[in-house]
Amino acid sequence: MIIAANWKMNLSRRNAGDLLKSYRDIAATKANISDGGGEGDKKVSGVSSGLIAFVPACYLPLAEDILSLTSVQFGAQDCHAEAKGAFTGDVSASMIADFSACWVLCGHSERRQYHAETDDVIAGKMTQAAQSGLNALLCVGESHEDRLSNQSIDVVTRQLMSTLQIWQSSRADNSTQLLVIAYEPIWAIGTGLVASLEQISEMHAAIKACLAGLGIAAPVLYGGSVKPDNAADIFAVADVDGALVGGASLNAEGFSQIVEAAS
Ligand code: 13P
Repeated sequence: MIIAANWKMNLSRRNAGDLLKSYRDIAATKANISDGGGEGDKKVSGVSSGLIAFVPACYLPLAEDILSLTSVQFGAQDCHAEAKGAFTGDVSASMIADFSACWVLCGHSERRQYHAETDDVIAGKMTQAAQSGLNALLCVGESHEDRLSNQSIDVVTRQLMSTLQIWQSSRADNSTQLLVIAYEPIWAIGTGLVASLEQISEMHAAIKACLAGLGIAAPVLYGGSVKPDNAADIFAVADVDGALVGGASLNAEGFSQIVEAAS
């Protein structure tokens, strides 16, 4: 299982440091989950299990200090789709890689909603990440309206196809970039509403089928109100390879329980 934490725009510098130290301790005591990394060899480690912390960009130096020589990998929540230039306030993939991060979160629904990110912009970010040696965690998910009108699988499949086809066509033949998908129904994010186990199972199977059609094998995580009390049930669903955790990742005890449920 892969357990990824998305802190979003939360935590003071001090609290961020404390939480990163907790993650380090959690990984050290949960041998099953911590073997996705590898000391000193993070960029080429496997991706079937492990902890990944997606921290605000300003805390990347902190993450580098605290997590280097641990099995916990870390990354940024976004990068720009260009390599460099006049993009005030943005952060490039190479800047992220400079802090020994391994990952970039791409296409989170909050970026799609508040920053109008389209599938081709998201594919551009994934490509930039690859060029800087970063792996990509691509988020997809449907709105409540899509769910109510029975469009969920169509919407998610469209997001995957249009992003991944562009990404594949610009991907270098010798690219070693790892890909993870997170299915995050928008209506379940930060709402306390969790997709039912049947909905998760159906969507994860559809995502894996879509990936297979593109010749891609990638782990698929579930995200959306994952908490200590529902994690074990979600992890037991076929085709669920882990979780992308928002609010509950900000609490060391709760996050530890989620990791425990995956071990
Ligand atoms: P919550 O776990 O707070 O619902 O957030 C999920 C999420 O958006 C993770 O990327």
